[in-house]
Amino acid sequence: MPIAYDYTNMLAPACAGAPTVADLDACAADFARAHAQVAALVADGTLGFPHLADDAALARAMMAEGATCRGAVDDVVLLGIGGSALGPALLRDALRPHAWNALDAHARDGWPRLHVLENVDPVTIAATLARLDLARTRVLVTSKSGGTAETLAQYLVLRDLVERHGGHDLVRRAFRFVTDPAKGALRAIARADGIVAFDVPPNVGGRFSVLSPVGLLPAACIGIDVAALLAGAAAMRDRAVVPVLRRNPAALFAVLQWLHDVRTGRRIHVLMPYVDALRNLGPWFVQLWAESLGKVRRTPGGGTEHVGPTPVPALGATDQHAQVQLFMEGPHDKTVTFLGMDRPATDVAIPSLHGEHADLAYLGGRTVFDLLDAERRATAGALASRGRPNGTLHVPVVDAPHVGELLMFLEYATAYAGALYGIDAFDQPGVELGKKFTFGIFGRPGFEGDRAAFDALPTADPALRA
Ligand code: PA5
Repeated sequence: MPIAYDYTNMLAPACAGAPTVADLDACAADFARAHAQVAALVADGTLGFPHLADDAALARAMMAEGATCRGAVDDVVLLGIGGSALGPALLRDALRPHAWNALDAHARDGWPRLHVLENVDPVTIAATLARLDLARTRVLVTSKSGGTAETLAQYLVLRDLVERHGGHDLVRRAFRFVTDPAKGALRAIARADGIVAFDVPPNVGGRFSVLSPVGLLPAACIGIDVAALLAGAAAMRDRAVVPVLRRNPAALFAVLQWLHDVRTGRRIHVLMPYVDALRNLGPWFVQLWAESLGKVRRTPGGGTEHVGPTPVPALGATDQHAQVQLFMEGPHDKTVTFLGMDRPATDVAIPSLHGEHADLAYLGGRTVFDLLDAERRATAGALASRGRPNGTLHVPVVDAPHVGELLMFLEYATAYAGALYGIDAFDQPGVELGKKFTFGIFGRPGFEGDRAAFDALPTADPALRA
């Protein structure tokens, strides 16, 4: 069964005060415009993520490369950040057994652990490096631009370490780059040093790149069936290009989030899987939704305005004991999207003990999944009954095809949402100033003006420090 999006509780009457089915249908023209805009970008080659799903040769190449890790490598270390790191961590946690990196080689069936370094926190980096046998480590350096400070700093640390351990031979054996086919420092180093490098297509942005070698290479290195992942993504892509709003789940998700934002001020969008394996979907979605949609928009009068919903990750049932109080009784500024699944192959029976205690007796004879699923449905119903809009993505099983569907669903929804908000979902100009100030602080040539601008900022006022 494919993924299904149930949006009953996003609308009145299930959710009192929410837009109606008629309001949704009245958005058909808005969606038609968004659809045309996105379809044109895909057709002229500007937007490449939808085509990744068809690249069977890429899947084969990734699986061939990944197979070289099995039995030969204990650890794969991925150096990357943002769109270059969040997808790989999500794939590992969704599609490999629980606590993969804590399992022994036998339980991992000979596939290596996968460490996604991501941040430049010295404690994390030092702790990870201390555990590596460098002769049995593969290092994936992933940067589309090839110029990201965090990733290149990690690279310099690992490169020096590996080179001192095993010379240039080991560098060539251990390192793989994933970067732009022609541009950037990583591509130049790969050429100069004979390091194998895989391409991130120029028309695939970082946060839309999980189905390119950015996600597929680390996934294949730990034994994930990336062909099945792409097959699922292709199936969803075919549904997501349908130009009829009510027959297109990705479009419905985008239109409903946008409609609730612009019509009823619900500009906080919560994603709440009731599946531990999809815990890392939250951070991945947050990056996709936030960096794509938080933008300055030009107004027809020549001015500017600031738009963009705020994505929030949550996890069921855990967050029922944390954020759900806020979702139920806090401001009416949120939508919640639940993720539920069918009973997994592994379920845990709850024994019938302590029949004398009413607090325990009702649990006995059921399963842990029964409880999780009941809590999801109960929370969705409770929210709707208080006029709190929510939808549910039903993912029958967390396997490679369904995760592929899910990723493509959210990527297409983001592309449509960008068009609905009237902004460019595929750039990120807002992160540039902080980067320039960092280069200035580090004394990078060419950024002297940025250093001066940074130094001219108000300094910390001792009177405002407690
Ligand atoms: O989505 C994006 O484009 C960004 O979040 C990038 O993924 C992130 O900045 C890392 O960039 P790069 O892959 O060029 O190192």
